[in-house]
Amino acid sequence: MAKIALLPGDGIGQEIVPQAVRVLKHIAPKYGIELEFAEALVGGAAIDALGVPLPDETLKLCQQSDAILLGAVGGPKWDTLPVHLRPEGAALLGLRKNLGLFTNIRPVKMLPALLKASTLKEEIVNGVDMMVFRELTGGLYFGERGRREVNGETQAFDTMVYATSEIERIARLGFVAAQGRRGKLCSVDKANILESSRLWRETVSKLAPEYPDVELTHMYVDNCAMQLVRQPLQFDVIITENMFGDILTDLASMLSGSIGMLASASIGGKVGLYEPAHGSAPDIAGMNKANPLATILSAALLLRYALGQEQAAAAIEASVAQTLAQGYRTPDIYVSGCKQVGTQEMTDLVIKNV
Ligand code: IPM
Ligand code: MG
Repeated sequence: MAKIALLPGDGIGQEIVPQAVRVLKHIAPKYGIELEFAEALVGGAAIDALGVPLPDETLKLCQQSDAILLGAVGGPKWDTLPVHLRPEGAALLGLRKNLGLFTNIRPVKMLPALLKASTLKEEIVNGVDMMVFRELTGGLYFGERGRREVNGETQAFDTMVYATSEIERIARLGFVAAQGRRGKLCSVDKANILESSRLWRETVSKLAPEYPDVELTHMYVDNCAMQLVRQPLQFDVIITENMFGDILTDLASMLSGSIGMLASASIGGKVGLYEPAHGSAPDIAGMNKANPLATILSAALLLRYALGQEQAAAAIEASVAQTLAQGYRTPDIYVSGCKQVGTQEMTDLVIKNV
């Protein structure tokens, strides 16, 4: 029996997590998988109910589970709270740090049916298939920050800090992933300026001889942003620092049609966390308009990485591809000539196609 902690969170998180659970409940018995679900509060929902964005009981439930499925956190209602109460920082970063989730994996794959949904030219994005490994518990997000008075005015600072061991462990995951794919690893940094990037580059390079079947390249992050839209087919596996990865994966999501399609897995600790890469979209929350596919695809990653159920994971992914190929679209990926459906109906179709 696998225990799954459900953390719907805020905004559309409340709609899309239950949809992904419907898919999991439908597919589990077909593959002899036994799942048990328990729900907990996180983000703004937890602030409203209990006064804190990451309650102790939520963290405890997560630690005692086999995997976590999260929706999204945050919204305008909580944007003006002091920083230790902000859902994004306190809840999301708190979960990542407490659970030791040092790598965030975001697969970026262009499904043929979605070629027209991307804002980029078809011939550029056709065939895109890459994985971005983003460092998740270090770097600019977790370094010392603060404010100080200098020469009579306020100064604010954030610091990017990396230890060799933090770089090594994500780099190894990247090398291994590349071995199982097309054998290409691109390490992204800003080594022409930043000392933490120079250590990053040195450390990754030192590991390369252990993986002779992987072709390692290095790229500056600004160039990488440009190359991702210029010629995305050149990328297989990317590894990069926390903040660089945050920015590059939003950019890369458009290579797969929409950020509403981008799933993610945060791993490294005992329990992994699976969540869509998009936010809580308060503007469309509760309207049955949200695209549930990133969360459904995150549930597939959960089956693959947390439970080792490759066949069930692949079945969900195939069903999503088929549903899109049949012309069904949520508003975010709609193009004329397709059939527009809501959150609920999209999930019904995915379940029907499994
Ligand atoms: C993401 C999100 C988060 C991040 C925010 C909500 C804190 O943008 O998962 O990419 O920056 O890590
Ligand atoms: Mg982000």
